[in-house]
Amino acid sequence: MNIRITGTGSALPDKILTNAELEQLVDTSDEWITLRTGIKERRIASEGEYTSTFAAQAARSAMAMAGIQPEELDLIIVGTVTPDFPFPSTACIVQDILGATNATAFDLSAACSGFIFGLSIAEKYIRSGAARKILVIGAEVLSRIVDWRDRNTCVLFGDGSGAAILEASESEDHALLSTHTFSNGSFWKLLYQSGSGSRNPASESRTIDERLLYVNMEGNEVFKHAVRAMEEAAVKALDANGLTSSDIALLIPHQANRRIIDATAKRLGIEGDRLFTNLHRYGNTSSASIPIALDEANRQRLLAPDSKLLLVAFGGGFAYGSALIHW
Ligand code: UT7
Repeated sequence: MNIRITGTGSALPDKILTNAELEQLVDTSDEWITLRTGIKERRIASEGEYTSTFAAQAARSAMAMAGIQPEELDLIIVGTVTPDFPFPSTACIVQDILGATNATAFDLSAACSGFIFGLSIAEKYIRSGAARKILVIGAEVLSRIVDWRDRNTCVLFGDGSGAAILEASESEDHALLSTHTFSNGSFWKLLYQSGSGSRNPASESRTIDERLLYVNMEGNEVFKHAVRAMEEAAVKALDANGLTSSDIALLIPHQANRRIIDATAKRLGIEGDRLFTNLHRYGNTSSASIPIALDEANRQRLLAPDSKLLLVAFGGGFAYGSALIHW
């Protein structure tokens, strides 16, 4: 059984936070943020907006494009590190919002690679015959787990969601060709959030050190690994399909840092208009970054029919991976 992506969608908060506004919050400058990251602004959720809010909006948009009803969905997967609650899964909340009464729903934790890992699980469900119509979502409200006094992290992240509908297809054309996932747990301490889990429970003292609730990142170290790992994941995808980078019409890498994206693209020999970026407008939205970019590229008609599209992600865990699509 083959797999076809029949719809994409994305949803972003209306509220924009610019680099100039961040200059008022912490000791930073538009120049530093632009030069070191490429980010100019990011979207921030307002009161009453949650991860499930954007996830459901992106899902509705993807379902509308695919022309399917919520009851047709067999499975909903949400990749997120900022779920509405530790449990139940945000996927179950999205199921409820959508009325997708026939779906199984669960979250997965693969940080910035959540969407790629979700595609990989969906691929296996469809190839095995266990499901025919699957909604894969990457959704985050990272603004609620960053320390707005820490210039090392608060300038980097943003909120939003992207989604895709995957359907079983008899045809080999326009198919998801492969997914590859990798983990290297020996580096988990370079990027993590330590509070509210079983190691630092608030239940013991009934309070929690608020610093434990924020994103903790050794940016420099993560940077070095990110470039190598994304190259590895991309090469794996190309080799598995007997392709070279010159066959790729568009590369959509995880949008964490313009310098990481450019270094990865350079190593792969995919540059110029074959490289998609939007992090100047949204910052790093973790698991949402690739599906938001995929939806924008799709709606801007940058994905020519019959062309090859390569998605590649890297994030905390470390968890990284790639997906190759015959669009
Ligand atoms: O999503 C997947 C995982 N995440 C990533 O892939 C992110 C990977 N890392 C990065 O993108 C980069 O490492 C950062 C953007 C986080 C940092 O850039 P960098 O070039 O690695 O800077 P640095 O951490 O080495 O810091 C250089 C200097 C430091 O000052 P000193 O010690 O040299 O005096 C920082 O204190 O820049 C300073 N700095 C800032 N200055 C102004 C750090 N953040 C800021 C800031 N504004 N916002």
